Amino acid sequence: MKIVLLGAGNRARKYLEYIIANPDRVELVGVVEPNRLRRESIARKCGLTSDKLYVSADQFFALGRVADAIVIATPDKYHYPQAMAAIELGYHILLEKPIAQTVEEAEQIKLAADRAGVIVNVCYVLHFHPYFVKLRELVSSGRYGSIVSISHSAPVGIDRAGHVYVRGIWNRTESQGPLLTSKCCHDLDFLIWLTGSKCRALSSFGSLRWFCAENAPAGSAERCIDCRVEKTCPFSAVDLYRNRHAWISNFDVPNGMTINDAIEEQLANGPYGRCVYHCDNDVVDRQVVAMEMDSGVTIDLTVDVFTTSNRRVTKISMTNAEIVGDESCIRINTFRPRANEVYDFSSTLEAPYHAGADLATVENFLNAIEQGHDDSHTGIAHALESQRLCDEIECSRRLSN
Ligand SMILES: NC(=O)c1ccc[n+]([C@@H]2O[C@H](COP(=O)([O-])OP(=O)(O)OC[C@H]3O[C@@H](n4cnc5c(N)ncnc54)[C@H](O)[C@@H]3O)[C@@H](O)[C@H]2O)c1
Repeated sequence: MKIVLLGAGNRARKYLEYIIANPDRVELVGVVEPNRLRRESIARKCGLTSDKLYVSADQFFALGRVADAIVIATPDKYHYPQAMAAIELGYHILLEKPIAQTVEEAEQIKLAADRAGVIVNVCYVLHFHPYFVKLRELVSSGRYGSIVSISHSAPVGIDRAGHVYVRGIWNRTESQGPLLTSKCCHDLDFLIWLTGSKCRALSSFGSLRWFCAENAPAGSAERCIDCRVEKTCPFSAVDLYRNRHAWISNFDVPNGMTINDAIEEQLANGPYGRCVYHCDNDVVDRQVVAMEMDSGVTIDLTVDVFTTSNRRVTKISMTNAEIVGDESCIRINTFRPRANEVYDFSSTLEAPYHAGADLATVENFLNAIEQGHDDSHTGIAHALESQRLCDEIECSRRLSN
């Protein structure tokens, strides 16, 4: 199987590890990436010659079909045009989430894929994560009765929010879609999978509350390195990148420079050195959603930005037990007999590649291609439902503002 990467950023590099580890099964035959440093770094790592490196998707698609499959791991706004161009050429696609920016685009991708007879599999990696797999297995085991309601918090966290949704490229709805779609489509997809049902009614509230100019403290500046209150600011870029070395994995390090030089360059001149109160962001920084599913299960979902936690917490009320999971542990209190069960997942918390789920995602995609059909839960037919839900939630949120 010959495969090409579109986008050579954070996500593509995860999937690449599967490709490198399985040379008997799959071979990387090209990288499409406008950023020269990233293109060349993958070329060095995988021994690709310069004729296999493409600066733009247009240049690549103009060649016709040069592989069996492609991984689309570009920013969200490119998913639709790139997926449509790839399907036209007959490529099978491993498509990063969200499928597209609207449900109409996502439906067009599915229709085109069905017509062309190609597989489009969506990178909903939680389906392969041991903790989420176990949670679903327990809930559907029948041992605890049926689900009554679910309370789920989807943590964004202040570091991720500052890096991705305030200073970073996902900070504007018009270019990258709403935060709920770009971040929490995973959560919605998981809740649909967990309950085995679709949503029949919902409402949502949310807005940009804090990361805007009117909340800038006295003494703050356009850049954290010039700020007089930086030392006490919880959102300081100096603290995040220079002191804690967090969220720096996609800072490019040109030849002759170190990662510390790259951090200082960002702090002085890059988008990641900007004060969170002086950015061009407009995505929400808090949101709640209430849903009723076809099965009658009610769900409340909270998008949690103002936390240092990055763990999803799911409380599932069942007719004979209460199940609470926080990604580190699943605790079950049964009602009769009164008993407790504990499943420990602490060892998977920091395990690489989302505890192996990123690698299993590629494997599942290759299996579907080999079988010639994809009825897995991450196939586009199933994944469409979460895209539909994201659109409807955003519609409700806008109407309530
Ligand atoms: N499945 C998950 O758990 C998960 C997690 C994070 C992000 N994502 C999704 O993965 C996708 C990529 O996110 P990322 O974190 O890797 O971002 P990234 O910025 O690290 O990587 C994206 C890469 O695409 C390149 N690129 C930009 N425009 C391009 C174009 N027109 N053609 C080809 N390449 C182009 C960029 O230069 C960059 O290297 C996004 O859709 C994001 O929502 C998924």
